[in-house]
Amino acid sequence: MSGTVGAHNELHSEQGALPGEHSGRGRNPVIKVADIAWLEFEKPDLDRAEAFARAFGFAIVMRTPDELQLRGADAGAPCVLLRRGDRSRFVGTAFRAVDEVDVLRLADVARAPTKPLPESLGGICVDLVNPSGLPVRVVAGTHELPELAHQQPHVFNVGRELNRTNATQRPPRVAARVQRLGHVVLQTTRYTETLNFYLDTLGMIVSDFLFYPGQRARGPVMSFIRCDRGSDPADHHTLALALGPADRYVHSAYQVCDLDALAAGGEYLAELGYFRSWGIGRHIQGSQLFDYWRDPDGFLVEHFADGDMFDNTLEPGWAQFTATGLAQWGPPVTKDFLGINPSALPHEARAVVNALRSKNEFSLTRLRGLLKVANS
Ligand SMILES: [Fe+2]
Repeated sequence: MSGTVGAHNELHSEQGALPGEHSGRGRNPVIKVADIAWLEFEKPDLDRAEAFARAFGFAIVMRTPDELQLRGADAGAPCVLLRRGDRSRFVGTAFRAVDEVDVLRLADVARAPTKPLPESLGGICVDLVNPSGLPVRVVAGTHELPELAHQQPHVFNVGRELNRTNATQRPPRVAARVQRLGHVVLQTTRYTETLNFYLDTLGMIVSDFLFYPGQRARGPVMSFIRCDRGSDPADHHTLALALGPADRYVHSAYQVCDLDALAAGGEYLAELGYFRSWGIGRHIQGSQLFDYWRDPDGFLVEHFADGDMFDNTLEPGWAQFTATGLAQWGPPVTKDFLGINPSALPHEARAVVNALRSKNEFSLTRLRGLLKVANS
């Protein structure tokens, strides 16, 4: 731990790793991805998806009867790709390699072909599958869409610093403008194997581990993972993985410029009748200001602002996984956010039974640990 920054003190987490615990890094990763690129979904009603996307603050790159591409204001590739499908479904995650050589190297090691991406995106990709069975696409050379006008951050009078005189604060109640995709959170029945895949294959590194109350010796059950960009800081997590009874999407998060944009954008979504799952608050792991919404297909999406950026010198923190430990301040975590509202319970119960019956890491002991999380 010598030479590392003390970000894991106090609230961030009590301590670092104990001897013999997971190091949170691959020894000799195949490549080191630069960032998350986009998420792909299928949805039956693209009109409905587009209406929500506009209200949430995306810009529309392309819309055809069968396709919808969304972006933030930052330059780069689209960050959400939607295709018309019979049912709503998360298809997979794409990561951006540093360059095409890295895509070729990865394809070679994985013995998978490289493919050209569709003309609307440009570039090449290699398609892998993570140990939970979810598609992982690694891309490079995609068209760089030019930056769009950004939402202006508000000018704050902070502490004794006077930055605004003879001027009012009037955040407009409009859609918060999305800057970019920040992270995706996935649940997996094969947590350790899936974690190691991202560390060993994509060169990602763990920012924080969580363990179930009373089960630290059994190993972590959630990790917040960032890209290793050397001395260039990266989001505290680009990907988070949690052990659970199903292999599935949990949520994805999109950056907006500041707290007022986030809050006023939330008022705007609420006025349109969309469902706030949990917020507004400030997380512990990653420190983001957060506000969680359900899109019309039931997918959880997050507006965030002011998240932590870590370079590759920080070692992983270790903390107990508790529902109250998900935020430093904000309303109590909701049943909807935790996926345990009454309407979801029959579906969850089936997932738990199926997971316990098949060969994976989700055991009865782990189920007991998970149940402790919700009540602690
Ligand atoms: Fe998040």
